[in-house]
Amino acid sequence: MLYLEQARRTPFAPGLFAGQVAIVTGGGTGIGRATAEELLALGAKVAIASRKPEHLDPALAELGPRGEVMAVRCDIRQPEEVAHLVDEVLARWGRIDVLVNNAGGQFPSPAAALTPKGWDAVIRNNLNGTFYMTREVAVREMIPQRRGAIVNVIAAMQRGFPGMAHTGAARAGVENLTKSLAVEWAEHDVRVNAVAPGIIVSSGTAQYGEALVEAARQYTPQKRVGTIEEVAHAICYLASPAAAFITGITLAIDGGKALWGDIWPIPERTHQG
Ligand SMILES: NC(=O)c1ccc[n+]([C@@H]2O[C@H](COP(=O)([O-])OP(=O)(O)OC[C@H]3O[C@@H](n4cnc5c(N)ncnc54)[C@H](OP(=O)(O)O)[C@@H]3O)[C@@H](O)[C@H]2O)c1
Repeated sequence: MLYLEQARRTPFAPGLFAGQVAIVTGGGTGIGRATAEELLALGAKVAIASRKPEHLDPALAELGPRGEVMAVRCDIRQPEEVAHLVDEVLARWGRIDVLVNNAGGQFPSPAAALTPKGWDAVIRNNLNGTFYMTREVAVREMIPQRRGAIVNVIAAMQRGFPGMAHTGAARAGVENLTKSLAVEWAEHDVRVNAVAPGIIVSSGTAQYGEALVEAARQYTPQKRVGTIEEVAHAICYLASPAAAFITGITLAIDGGKALWGDIWPIPERTHQG
């Protein structure tokens, strides 16, 4: 299919990020991996960070020969691990220009069945972890250096997120945080934006099965799902000087899905009334 072929090639000029340093959390898999790959191809030095060596090591092995890349184990829920990641990147490259807060995860569950533990796990990962990363990078590097672009990967949740209320709440929190920080840090020339992917075929969507992908196709005006490279292109755009006068926005990458239809079934009523 033409869009798959087109998406694989970067639409940006070589050297767009030359001399810059980027951190991509969750950069060993899926959307994060595609973003790390594109930033690297465009001249950035890239640090990928996540918890599991089985995600980081193969990505490092494959990306290593293509440019300057490092991998750091980091659980974004742990502030001391976040600080260590920033230490490592600054020790190696001495600057951080771009932060892509892509790490995250959730699991499907009706809200009534969510335990406090399950709720906390998703909020800590998708909301708290994003704030810890953002604060550490901004306070230690971007604000003092008066430059930087932060891109938060959230999700399409304008109409709520029935079936995954925990992640809907966390992502709405990050969207609001994006706006607050964009205004607070504009004076420091630090831009903060977000992307909201619709259904993107990636390692992360494998857990939901082919039925979700089919439903997404049906309810998406463009009648297809997205690719990880299409999300990476949007992230690179917002991180680049092409978006120099853009801050505080959330860019939907969803083929029009947010404007049309529901893909999560509404549960049958269990009582009359
Ligand atoms: N694919 C979609 O359709 C879609 C749609 C909307 C939003 N998103 C969001 O986009 C992001 C990337 O998704 P994806 O589809 O590429 O899925 P994915 O492959 O599962 O990516 C998630 C990444 O986050 C990392 N991660 C998770 N928890 C972490 C933690 N506590 N600390 C550090 N790293 C952590 C994982 O690595 P480790 O396991 O090694 O830590 C993994 O590399 C996620 O935030 C996802 O929720 C995806």
